[in-house]
Amino acid sequence: MRADVFTLFPQWFEWFRSQRHVQNALALGHTVDAFDFRTATPLKWGQVDDTPFGGGAGMVLRVDTMEAALRERYGEDPVALKSHRRVIALTPAGRLLDDALASELAAEEEITLLCGRYEGFDERILEHFVSDQVSIGRYVLAGGELAAMVVLDTMLRKLPGVLGDDESAVEESFSEALEGAPEYPHYTRPAEWRGWAVPDVLLSGHHARVDEWRRAQSRLRAERPLP
Ligand SMILES: C[S@@+](CC[C@H](N)C(=O)[O-])C[C@H]1O[C@@H](n2cnc3c(N)ncnc32)[C@H](O)[C@@H]1O
Repeated sequence: MRADVFTLFPQWFEWFRSQRHVQNALALGHTVDAFDFRTATPLKWGQVDDTPFGGGAGMVLRVDTMEAALRERYGEDPVALKSHRRVIALTPAGRLLDDALASELAAEEEITLLCGRYEGFDERILEHFVSDQVSIGRYVLAGGELAAMVVLDTMLRKLPGVLGDDESAVEESFSEALEGAPEYPHYTRPAEWRGWAVPDVLLSGHHARVDEWRRAQSRLRAERPLP
């Protein structure tokens, strides 16, 4: 997986890249590179945004400076780029990120993530340069950087070898293995604390019964969401 992120804050991704599972991904040959929109702008003072036509608060990321940034990186017209590469804008109203979308994106060899700021993107960026719009929830963040990290995090941990134990990512909340249901409860030592006992079945050593119990708990959580 080669992931490129376009942002006004590329330094934020140094922290992301330093996380253990991301380090594992990088060691396996995957890449996560952050590019500053401003480096390619032809405008004075590194400008990449402007006031909205029609008035109103805030600034809007410009289509011409976005084109310059994408052309500099990929050496082609961004309109053509999106036909062979997933170019994803992070937007509050986009397709909601879920486990299925994370798996879909993890299967891509290359992706590009565009992080908005201020009032967001000039609509022509979304119409002409972007293959997908992805939201991490129906609320508004100050910028797309945290959203991009959420998308990258959930994708990267699905790649073989990135987690210490690949099995950890197989049977998880919302996974196919659990038929989309939340994960079952986990317990560890001590087996009893303040009178709160671990369910007997988990101490039985009977793998088939443990498995059956876990699946039943998972189904129960799907029917009765946690408070
Ligand atoms: C302050 S927001 C812009 C909100 C925009 N004016 C609106 O009302 O939809 C700035 C940027 O943060 C990012 N962003 C904010 N909330 C997000 C979310 N829930 N999911 C994905 N990206 C988000 C987007 O890239 C957006 O362009």
